[in-house]
Amino acid sequence: MNAFNDLADFSTEEIASLIRLATHLDSNPEPEALRGKVLALLFLSPSLRTLASFQAAMTRLGGGAFVISPDMSIHGIETRPGIVMDGAAAEHIREAVPVIASYGDAIGIRAFAERKNLASDIAETEFNALTDLIDTPYINMESALNHPCQSLADWKTMDDLKIPQHGGKFVLSWAYHPKALPLAVPAATVQMAAMRGMEVTVLRPDGFALPDAVMDKAKDAAASSGGSVVETDERTEAMEGAHVIYAKSWSSTRHYGDRVIDEKARSELRHWCVDDPWFDNAQDDCRFMHCLPVRRGVVVSDRVLDGPRSVVIHEARNRMLAQMAVLHQMLGGRS
Ligand code: CP
Repeated sequence: MNAFNDLADFSTEEIASLIRLATHLDSNPEPEALRGKVLALLFLSPSLRTLASFQAAMTRLGGGAFVISPDMSIHGIETRPGIVMDGAAAEHIREAVPVIASYGDAIGIRAFAERKNLASDIAETEFNALTDLIDTPYINMESALNHPCQSLADWKTMDDLKIPQHGGKFVLSWAYHPKALPLAVPAATVQMAAMRGMEVTVLRPDGFALPDAVMDKAKDAAASSGGSVVETDERTEAMEGAHVIYAKSWSSTRHYGDRVIDEKARSELRHWCVDDPWFDNAQDDCRFMHCLPVRRGVVVSDRVLDGPRSVVIHEARNRMLAQMAVLHQMLGGRS
């Protein structure tokens, strides 16, 4: 495996194999599997889970990892192409990325969307410009439109909980958040649930539809897996018989790049906070999923997040296990 960039690059059999390996490594530790191997981690955007889980994953497999982020005491990094560097930044990303990659056997890169131009973000212009600089195997740790590690962990979480693949109803719901957030998690999540063969409903208010490119890609995946993908702004209809509600806030696609109008539009949507009444017509054991971090009382009520429906900690732990499987395959783990 030379890249773990998009779940859509893998067959469902390959994903099932990664999940089996992740489960196996949980109960059968392999502390020598990646002995001598090094993972470089470049965080151009903030993190808790991804940062910690990749380091834990490498340590559990006997390898090592190092982290570089602009918050550290490194030279300021310039990211703009074609710039005359007579300002504060002393190093350009064009040198920094290949240098960092050269110290590792693989590199993980996180670079959130700029959220200025939707077409550019859909085309993954910024992330592709970074990976074009290297020959080293790489892992997408969240780009403009993707978060494959989160999606692999979420797929495993649903398998662990025996949530049906075929016939399982999966609701991806927009939720209120004071800021315009990236599209990466919702885009990756709708794709994951469609590939898993589920009946997927994207529940979102007017103005917050996912881009056509995201929905069309997910519908193609559903056509192959035997699932379906629809969208609505009707909560009661969406939640009817749901096995899972996956909450996430994202930017308005109608006003993409215009944060002032986006914030005005979302300010009237504070009631999009997942709470007990949302589950009235769902399956009795309908689960609540979220990638974290999550704002309590904003995205979801305390009673849902702290209650038996919530599987957010399970998802977060599965990040480490899923990434152990990816690293094991990418770096030739000695099983
Ligand atoms: N879910 C997730 O990627 O969390 P972090 O942003 O904390 O890494």
